[in-house]
Amino acid sequence: MGQQSQFAPDYRDSPAPLFQQVIADDPVAAPPILREYSEIDIPVARVPRDQYRSIDFAALEMERLWPRVWQLACREEQIPEVGDYVLYESPGASLIIMRSGPDDIKAFYNSCLHRGMRLCAEDSSVRKLTCPFHGFTWNLDGKLAHVPARWDFPDMRDDAMNLPEARVERWQGFVFINRDPAAPPLQAYLGHLPAHFADWSYGDRYLATVMRKTIDANWKTCIEGFVESYHLAGIHAQALPFGGDASTQYDVWPDDPHVSRFLEPTGVMSDQLPVQLSEQQILDAALSAVFVGAQVPELEAGTKARHYMAAGMRAAMGAADGVDYSTLSDAEAADAIQYSLFPNIIIFRSLGYPYVYRFLPVRDDPNRATFEFMIFKPKPADGYIPEVELVDLGEGDSFAGAGILPPWLGEIYDQDVTGLRMCQQGLRDGGDADILYSAYQEVRIRHLHQTLDRYLSDDPTDAPGRR
Ligand code: FES
Ligand SMILES: [Fe+2]
Repeated sequence: MGQQSQFAPDYRDSPAPLFQQVIADDPVAAPPILREYSEIDIPVARVPRDQYRSIDFAALEMERLWPRVWQLACREEQIPEVGDYVLYESPGASLIIMRSGPDDIKAFYNSCLHRGMRLCAEDSSVRKLTCPFHGFTWNLDGKLAHVPARWDFPDMRDDAMNLPEARVERWQGFVFINRDPAAPPLQAYLGHLPAHFADWSYGDRYLATVMRKTIDANWKTCIEGFVESYHLAGIHAQALPFGGDASTQYDVWPDDPHVSRFLEPTGVMSDQLPVQLSEQQILDAALSAVFVGAQVPELEAGTKARHYMAAGMRAAMGAADGVDYSTLSDAEAADAIQYSLFPNIIIFRSLGYPYVYRFLPVRDDPNRATFEFMIFKPKPADGYIPEVELVDLGEGDSFAGAGILPPWLGEIYDQDVTGLRMCQQGLRDGGDADILYSAYQEVRIRHLHQTLDRYLSDDPTDAPGRR
């Protein structure tokens, strides 16, 4: 029979415990935001597969989606000094994200106002922006500073030659840009994120490493492959004894078109495993997969595998970060707590997963996307923040082989990359049947498409925040 609950849809029919039941007897209780549940019915059950493979659909996204959404461009700590800039190659617009003043960041279109030359080729630091073609030069605030042979432009007015800018707003050290003057402010766009990250601030962390890999899959195929736990049995079967797939809680909120989340518990067996495991067996399986060669302790009566794993994570990350995590809840220590920000960002709020993902379409190729895997660390007390480590993974390079993630986790991402490539091949070459999404476990995908439809609508006021 279905497990009727205020914490699951009433049609749910699974013997697996709900996330809220799992955390109810955790020794260190979860904070209130993890004890919330929000379900709304999203009727988007099927979409045409052309949305994942057609040049025309990608062009529609380029015209109506990307120029109108808030996009994560970079982190503030990537441009600490005045004159530092990074390039953000957003879909359809190359932008120079410039530290124009001690507390001022601007986003200039990366193109000269003379004959259009690309102004900057790579991340750097400058006193002025000088075009490499004929030498038009701008100050860091975007005002025209110098034109060689100024006499030869008698009709040009200097005050009409400011570098064009996109909007810039910031949250917790993330720098966002928006090319649409009519878009709502970032704070409104972020929906539940500010409240849910109020005491888990990325402002206290810095971007330490970015792993970048081109994936042979549409950007939506990619993000959709990370926002549901339903694929655990198919793609990551080694995690069935402890992966918590069927116990994952999925939240979408009314009037929050850009944010969704899942709460995936650790140390809970899948309902797709044909046998019932004891807590000791769950711990044995988890530790042998996660900490190869670790001594597996005898669990004391009444202690659950997840409690042991949470304590282990607090100790391990505490030692790695030099921070006392002893009072952190078991859920925050052990579970995968993951939010998405429309259209292309995933942000974790988990001790063991200090990660943010960004997915960007590859120009003119709906079958490929760039996956940027960002790893954060707590800001050190002495304030010294090293330069971000950039790791480009080539076609044959694996996440496991990069040696940056724990080996078991690298293997998980390699499985995902293989799965996404196969999914895209099927989408591309597999005929014309519509794609189908499940009602609950894939509600975040429905949510993404519902919001996408609003941006792509013929009526521009259908986009969120435009009425
Ligand atoms: S194109 Fe930039 S100075 Fe000529
Ligand atoms: Fe996966």
